[in-house]
Amino acid sequence: MRKETLRVGVAGLGTVGAALIAQVARRHDALAARCGRAIEIVAVSARSRGKDRGVDLKKMKWFDDPVALARAGEIDLFVELMGGSGDPAKAAVEAALGSGKSVVTANKALLARHGVRLAALAEKNNVALNFEAAVGAAIPAVKTLREGLAGNQVERLYGILNGTCNYILTRMEQEGLAFAECLAEAQRLGYAEADPTFDIEGHDTAQKLSILASLAFGTKVEEKAIYVEGISSIQPADLAAADQLGYRVKLLGVAVKTPQGIEQRVHPTMVRKDAPIAQVMGVTNAVTIDAEGISPLTLIGPGAGGMATASAVLSDIADVARGLRVMPFGRPAARLTDVRKAPMQRHEGGYYIRLQARDKPGTAATIATRLAEQEISLESIVQRHPKGADDRMTKGGSVPVILITYATTEDAVRKALAAVGRDRVISGRPQVIRIEKN
Ligand code: HSE
Repeated sequence: MRKETLRVGVAGLGTVGAALIAQVARRHDALAARCGRAIEIVAVSARSRGKDRGVDLKKMKWFDDPVALARAGEIDLFVELMGGSGDPAKAAVEAALGSGKSVVTANKALLARHGVRLAALAEKNNVALNFEAAVGAAIPAVKTLREGLAGNQVERLYGILNGTCNYILTRMEQEGLAFAECLAEAQRLGYAEADPTFDIEGHDTAQKLSILASLAFGTKVEEKAIYVEGISSIQPADLAAADQLGYRVKLLGVAVKTPQGIEQRVHPTMVRKDAPIAQVMGVTNAVTIDAEGISPLTLIGPGAGGMATASAVLSDIADVARGLRVMPFGRPAARLTDVRKAPMQRHEGGYYIRLQARDKPGTAATIATRLAEQEISLESIVQRHPKGADDRMTKGGSVPVILITYATTEDAVRKALAAVGRDRVISGRPQVIRIEKN
């Protein structure tokens, strides 16, 4: 006997909602064949009813109130595409789960803040809470960690999780463009959040990382446990120096097992140019997972934009249509463990340091001494005269000095740089970028 149609209600008709409606219509028959039942969007809710979204809404019931839609008897599944960690998204998702309906959401902010509680509510009501689209859009990172690697112990995961930042860094590197120009273009193309500081200061990446870390390590989703640094301090000089040294700069979200617990951090990172993650350009996202016996596993794909996000939403809807239900975080929400903020002072790894050093005898020796006092060993030290400058121009002035260290601690680097600062052999703030082994 053919199963009944899965009746879907969608709240939020922005770029993703409109792309989802178009895709469900286009793939109607193929989805029915795949899932063994038809999928129909029967009701929608958004802020403005009259707006032309380029899709046909005539056959869908309109709800002004997304919470009323979430509770409505006309739907079996509620899709939340409004965004934001507060109401109405939160109230609507709670209403749907509480009334025994499965939920599909692309809302990373909601999950980062209330994920554990919402997962418990879904489990209590025996319904699904699927959120593939919340991280890396079209990349099946959630399913890979939750289902594909259910039998593996993850040691580390790291990823390019923000299309806007990767787009900016790529264009700055490849075309030598200014940061602001690249950001404006990312906004125009619809990659950036309404408030782009959320992208460029690393918070979007942190929310996504908190979700992936929970799936990988069984920890509670805890955005506040993440050390966050964005890309706004990155200069073209850093990208050029990285290139010459065999590296590329990426904004990475990293979650790694350490003796102190799970370290979660977001910051600009130097990755070796030949690593798979270094090949990821533009708005594309990537996630690399090091798991026992199978590392590295890298997933690369479109990480932002309407169609890329709708693709993941639709795969989650298809799972519900098929009757598949996995616990939201791959294990009971009550068993997720507490996570503490990573003590970055104890972070261990290599460092890139760019200093503006006074061009006079003894400067290099002073810097080297301060690093040696902290037992920091140097892999390379490069001093470059600015392009076109001759000795007369830099005499008494300053020159950029670029250091690459072997593995050391954040604490040692900070102490050494503070001492160099007190020695008055540099001007301005040192630029420090962590190097991730890959
Ligand atoms: N602003 C996000 C990005 C959109 O740039 O990746 C997808 O979450």
